[in-house]
Amino acid sequence: MEQYAIKGGNPLVGDVEIGGAKNAALPILAASTMTDESVYIENMPDVRDINVLLEALERIGVMEKRPDRHKVVMNAGNINSLVVDDEALKKIRASYYLVGALLGKYRHAEVVLPGGCDIGFRAIDQHIKGFRALGASVTIEHGLIKAEAERLVGSHIYMDVSSVGATINVMMAATMAEGMTTIENAAKEPHVVDLANFLNSMGANIKGAGTDVIRIKGVTRLHGTEYTIIPDQIEAGTFMFAAAVTKGDVTVKNVIPKHLESITAKLLEIGCEVEETDDCIRVVASKPLQHTHVKTLPYPGFPTDMQPQITVALALSEGTSIVTESIFENRFKYVDELTRMGASIKVEGNTAIITGVKRYTGASISAPDLRAGAALVIAALAAEGLTMVDDIRYIQRGYEDFHLKLQGLGAQIELVETEKDFQKFRLKTG
Ligand code: EPU
Repeated sequence: MEQYAIKGGNPLVGDVEIGGAKNAALPILAASTMTDESVYIENMPDVRDINVLLEALERIGVMEKRPDRHKVVMNAGNINSLVVDDEALKKIRASYYLVGALLGKYRHAEVVLPGGCDIGFRAIDQHIKGFRALGASVTIEHGLIKAEAERLVGSHIYMDVSSVGATINVMMAATMAEGMTTIENAAKEPHVVDLANFLNSMGANIKGAGTDVIRIKGVTRLHGTEYTIIPDQIEAGTFMFAAAVTKGDVTVKNVIPKHLESITAKLLEIGCEVEETDDCIRVVASKPLQHTHVKTLPYPGFPTDMQPQITVALALSEGTSIVTESIFENRFKYVDELTRMGASIKVEGNTAIITGVKRYTGASISAPDLRAGAALVIAALAAEGLTMVDDIRYIQRGYEDFHLKLQGLGAQIELVETEKDFQKFRLKTG
């Protein structure tokens, strides 16, 4: 089983290239099934969740080519099944994007119910409400979501919660419905906007993505396109916090600074220096980190996907900090692992009260989910001594070459499979 072996203590220094956004790429791949023509996508991240979705698409007849690691050409002109009952797909959240895409184009979809990271109860009532408002009948049978409609007709839909997944799913179905759909209280995340831009480049008529109200005028057909996926704001934010936690000096390249404003603001508050240029951000942590408070919120608020990373920084900061998780109720599971490394954190409901400590110490720990796993790696990079991180398959779901990119910044981290590999690493790092 693969693990990360980490020897902490080196400040991370240098430049790191950020890849395409996983959470934009997933719906974009699903939406590629909505045209019979070829779609050419660049800046595709080579991570596990993407590859699972690509394999599932191939099994229903989508033709795919990968001219290089970050480019995909897809043609869904010969889809042979609208039933996507794939064991592997169960593990990823984004499987449900195929409901919106296939329902929109073919008026029928049966897709395995989604899994994804275990970070709390993840309802899909708003997706179902949206599909029904467009005229679909939706049932859940034998572990599949089944949606079908003779006609899909535009509607006025108010989302009870700001949901990335529901906004994206309903937007896809409405793209090929008759007439006008309005989604109110829509999610505003950059990946929602990226999907809207992608669909518009295929001939859709979507306005207002990135605001609370999205208006979609249905079209009867979509055509092929060439498209480049936006940079991953969470991968970028993770490296920015890695700079802070290791007292380093890191420049994240190929980013959209506007998407990172809430992250930049918090880094400034805790005493880092942040310099922005057109598509780069440099984070320098030369002073002791200071405490602060943070509450996760939908975009443009501080992202829930950065909550473990900021907690890892605050647990090494002077004073007492409070982190409130307002999106998912079960996103503090990693705190037990961080405590084993010396952190002092008390979790009460959706709040973590953090008393800063001077240092972490290496330990044997497990990644409980994708973002928490990455955050624990950052903690290990700052810790005294050796850390072994187990269950890194979670991290590989969403971070491409995580350990190689960290090595490029001077981190002592290696992917190990056996006790012998680990002993070699131990000898090498002294
Ligand atoms: N919600 C409902 N009903 C619904 C849908 C959502 O009550 O029908 C609630 C959820 O329970 C949650 C809140 O609304 O409390 C927000 O959920 P949302 O639908 O926005 O999340 P998601 O679409 O399931 C995506 C990302 C997550 C990210 C969240 C929040 C993907 C594939 N996943 O999940 O990313 O945390 O948005 O920004 O895009 C990750 O990449 O590590 C990850 C977990």
